[in-house]
Amino acid sequence: MLVEKNVPLQPYNTFRIVARAQTLVRVLREADVQALLADPELGPAPKFVLGGGSNIVLTGDVKAVVLKVEIMGRRLVAESDKAWIVEFGAGENWHEAVGWTLAQGRPGLENMALIPGTVGAAPVQNIGAYGVELQDRFESLDAIDLQTGRPFTLEAAQCGFGYRDSVFKHAAGPQGLGLAGRALITRVRLRLPKAWKPELGYLDLQRRQAETGIERPTAQQIHDWVCEIRRAKLPDPAVIGNAGSFFKNPTVTPEQCADIIAREPKIVHYLLDDGTVKLAAGWLIDACGWKGKSIGQAGVYEKQALVLVNRGGGDNGATGGEVMTLAKAIQTSVYERFGILLEPEPVVI
Ligand code: EPU
Repeated sequence: MLVEKNVPLQPYNTFRIVARAQTLVRVLREADVQALLADPELGPAPKFVLGGGSNIVLTGDVKAVVLKVEIMGRRLVAESDKAWIVEFGAGENWHEAVGWTLAQGRPGLENMALIPGTVGAAPVQNIGAYGVELQDRFESLDAIDLQTGRPFTLEAAQCGFGYRDSVFKHAAGPQGLGLAGRALITRVRLRLPKAWKPELGYLDLQRRQAETGIERPTAQQIHDWVCEIRRAKLPDPAVIGNAGSFFKNPTVTPEQCADIIAREPKIVHYLLDDGTVKLAAGWLIDACGWKGKSIGQAGVYEKQALVLVNRGGGDNGATGGEVMTLAKAIQTSVYERFGILLEPEPVVI
């Protein structure tokens, strides 16, 4: 177990917000968690689990013990006629994991290429892009209970996956279901069906198909298209600090949608299978004139209004407070114009 004191967290959050961890413990193997829990000082202290730091806003120094998960490893753990089951250490980089499966001739994750963060963080917010979500490929995960030190395994049905949501984002409620702050995910297993078919439901991918004239793209081609589309629309966190989409796309009833369309005929919306309507939060924010605007060093990305960015660099960048002030101002103006309260996607600490 490696314990460090007063550690700068700027390199460990993709928003590149300046903050420090009073205590940071690198978790390289499961036994490190047991050692930490047995420690008389660190064991009883509050804890915060950090993955790739791509979905957090730090609003100050972190007093809880930061557990930086660096458990590595990738392997095929099972194979049947129907599917391959691959397992990753929670500290593996997600995009590299996607590339590894493709290089092994096992497609299925290509639509989720280039999503920042670690494999261990992927189930927490059920990452998704271009028509595929983690839950569509999820098999099971191993975790450690940070209160009791007990290891446990969860199947998909026990993870409470929803749109950018899971049991890991919720505090324990009356039914005791939430695992926020309680579980440290150590390994994730994914199921990649052998009967692969391209997932081309998204307009952006259909456009690529038309432009290239490729009727039956391979998984590698879809991977490359997704990377191109993301690079054109989304800021690279290595260059401009950001945490991906800052708000979830809201859903409304068909009646609410009809009401909004009557006032805003151009509103971008998609009918979902369950009869509700998803609205493009980026469009709503854009329509309120936020694209390119800033509060302090926190800004709204010029090419995608759903992404908030850190316009500064080094020590002079945006603070978590500026990001949240901007987020609240956006929420207020979208609410005043459309009557819809946008829900932030990242975890605010
Ligand atoms: N739009 C605008 N103005 C904007 C931004 C978007 O008019 O400034 C319109 C676009 O023209 C488009 C629609 O809004 O018609 C949707 O935009 P886009 O296709 O870029 O996708 P999104 O709904 O903004 C979601 C996910 C992304 C994911 C993409 C592709 C959420 C919150 N975001 O974005 O996920 O990559 O779809 O599947 O669901 C993330 O979660 O961090 C993330 C990047």
